[in-house]
Amino acid sequence: MKFETQAIHAGQDPDPATGAVMTPIYQTSTFAQQGVGRHRGYEYARTGNPTRTALETCLAALEGGRHSLAFASGMAATDTVLRLLAPGDHVVAGRDVYGGTYRLFERVLKTFGLEFTYVDTTQLTEIESALRPNTRLLWLETPSNPLLRVSDLHAVADVVHRARPGAWMAVDNTFATPYLQRPLELGADIVIHSTTKYLGGHSDVVGGAIVVRSDEIRERLAFLQNAVGAVPGPMDCFLVLRGIKTLAVRMDRHGENAARVAEFLASQPKVERVIYPFADSHPQHELAHRQMRNGGGMVSFTLRAGAEAAVRVVERTHVFTLAESLGGVESLIEIPAAMTHASTAGSPIAIEPGLIRLSVGLENVDDLIADLDQALGDE
Ligand SMILES: Cc1ncc(COP(=O)(O)O)c(C=O)c1O
Repeated sequence: MKFETQAIHAGQDPDPATGAVMTPIYQTSTFAQQGVGRHRGYEYARTGNPTRTALETCLAALEGGRHSLAFASGMAATDTVLRLLAPGDHVVAGRDVYGGTYRLFERVLKTFGLEFTYVDTTQLTEIESALRPNTRLLWLETPSNPLLRVSDLHAVADVVHRARPGAWMAVDNTFATPYLQRPLELGADIVIHSTTKYLGGHSDVVGGAIVVRSDEIRERLAFLQNAVGAVPGPMDCFLVLRGIKTLAVRMDRHGENAARVAEFLASQPKVERVIYPFADSHPQHELAHRQMRNGGGMVSFTLRAGAEAAVRVVERTHVFTLAESLGGVESLIEIPAAMTHASTAGSPIAIEPGLIRLSVGLENVDDLIADLDQALGDE
């Protein structure tokens, strides 16, 4: 079945007990057993819950994977992937990953003996020269957060797997979603999501997910999911599932609106630089057109007047809300260096203070452009 159909139906057959068309929220912590160790597939809700199973089945189908595991947040999903490694293992990671991912790597996982090297994953030679004999994982985002750099998934997978057979390539597909790009089909071993973003789509839930093809990795991740326990509740799984049903139409509109907003910003003399993967000015726009269905809903830009002017602009918008996060129906604006990526301040991967990041929502695009126009004011 095609993507839109799977988004609405995969894992979501009418409830066998009642015929309920929408997946029930199984708000229970435990399940009755017919005899000791004899049950209907569910024992205790940390290990499994039918609402979570529906979400996991749907996500696996959408990413072209075989297995998915849902988590309480994107960070919990990321942490669980890294727990596949052991002290002394080395990770090559993208230089502009989400600030919280960098914080987890540097301030939590390093203390458990993992080693990290950060590279520009758009440059295959940088990846190649960062690989060490103990490299077990390559971690990247494309488009990256917040610089929207686009990495060639097929080429990166080739480099990593050829140089380090047995090492895994993990892709944080939060910005693109499986509607725009499917990393597993391009050679990645592991996909992770913050379902808080486009998959949930309505800024009303925090969640995460991992999708894989390998039965062996799935077994190890399922063990960790249960042993560590960072699982989502059934209500949260239901909200993400409900969001996913409209993912395709939302992503089409996010892409259309963001392209128009990027075009408007590029036409403004006050704007110094606009970053949007499908814009001709983007260094990897040809790759983006090959790899992604549209350019996505995220746009970043800087002003000629600098960082202080950027702060004034984000505080002057009315339709764009000044807030962290992204991927909801409503448009958001922020300064990554001071907000989402504050944890990278002072580090080699710090984001320039004047960069403004937009999550372009589903409002009428004329209102979005008018709002940015007035906010740019006299800067
Ligand atoms: C690309 C990306 N990955 C992961 C995360 C972390 O997800 P969560 O906030 O759901 O823990 C975020 C959050 O902003 C993100 O933008």
